[in-house]
Amino acid sequence: PLPAVLDEAMVHSVVHGFYDRIRKDELLAPIFDGAIPPQDWPSHLDKMCAFWSATLLRTDRYDGRPLPAHLAIPELAEEHFRRWLSLFRDTVEQLCPPEVANLFLDRALRIAHSFRLAIAFHRGE
Ligand code: HEM
Repeated sequence: PLPAVLDEAMVHSVVHGFYDRIRKDELLAPIFDGAIPPQDWPSHLDKMCAFWSATLLRTDRYDGRPLPAHLAIPELAEEHFRRWLSLFRDTVEQLCPPEVANLFLDRALRIAHSFRLAIAFHRGE
């Protein structure tokens, strides 16, 4: 049965389910594989669980800065954001009740938008 509330277990299943898809995606896998060596994936997944826990559960598990990692990917473009968001939407809609799926999605959309703006500014567009 689907869990009804947002908790650490749900964050864990969303993060792991999402990156399983990312790593099989023909457009996004090469970008992630270029930035994260195979042996670093477990710690990347731990960090992403910490990020979503801090973002949606207001824990203090993450206090990093997400933007620089993305500014450092020169080929990052609109098509990557669209694919990222569509895989993320599929994942949360499959794994979470609708209210929880919306919390994840709303936050992801806002952060993706702020990354797009920052990337455009950074590149002088
Ligand atoms: C880290 C790619 C969108 C949150 C990373 C890394 C990659 C990446 C390759 C690892 C960088 C490294 O360790 O060197 C992408 C791509 C995206 C995307 C291709 C879409 C086009 C997003 C969005 C969010 C996000 C929308 C937030 C909702 C993060 C966070 C980290 C990260 C929190 C960890 C940063 C740190 O090291 O503290 N991303 N990302 N990303 N990403 Fe993304």
